Amino acid sequence: MKEDTNKSNLKKEFEKVYRLAILTIVIVAIFGLIIGYLIINPQFFDFKKDDSTTELPEIAIEEDFDKIENGIHVSTGFVDAPGMKETIQNCTNCHSSKLVLQNRMTAERWKATIRWMQETQNLWDLGANEDIIIDYLTTNYPPKEKGRRAALTDIDWYELK
Ligand code: HEC
Repeated sequence: MKEDTNKSNLKKEFEKVYRLAILTIVIVAIFGLIIGYLIINPQFFDFKKDDSTTELPEIAIEEDFDKIENGIHVSTGFVDAPGMKETIQNCTNCHSSKLVLQNRMTAERWKATIRWMQETQNLWDLGANEDIIIDYLTTNYPPKEKGRRAALTDIDWYELK
């Protein structure tokens, strides 16, 4: 009789463990499915949809690109003068206009820089635009003539005692 209750106790205990094990497996399986689904479709819980890819801002930038303020082409910083259009079209595709603007060269040196870019950086043949661009750059951004500042004049020297 006592052995019987022992046996049924053991059985109950075993059933408890068994049920717990099944429950654990089911829970792990459900989490596994959810995580697996999220790996395939990570946006599932992104309820805030990103609207920033609408076309409106791009149109605004396009419209502003040609803006000229106080004789300066705002988007590139180039001076508005004959040849600016050709310069912008050919010289701002690969690098910033700043790289062009920070250089002041003679026509020969511009030509050499253009040849260098053509030989090493895939710059295309500029054709008739080459002279227009070089003219534009040397006219509006002439090389600074003096390597050093002009001598000071009219100075009130004071006596050293
Ligand atoms: C096909 C691409 C391309 C185009 C178009 C282009 N460049 Fe360049 N340019 C380069 C690259 C690449 C460099 C090197 C940039 C660097 O060193 O970071 C460079 C460098 C320069 C430099 C600096 C040279 C130096 O000695 O440091 C100047 C100035 C320059 N370009 C002017 C121009 C002008 C003017 C035009 C228009 C005629 C022009 N670029 C068009 C690719 C291009």
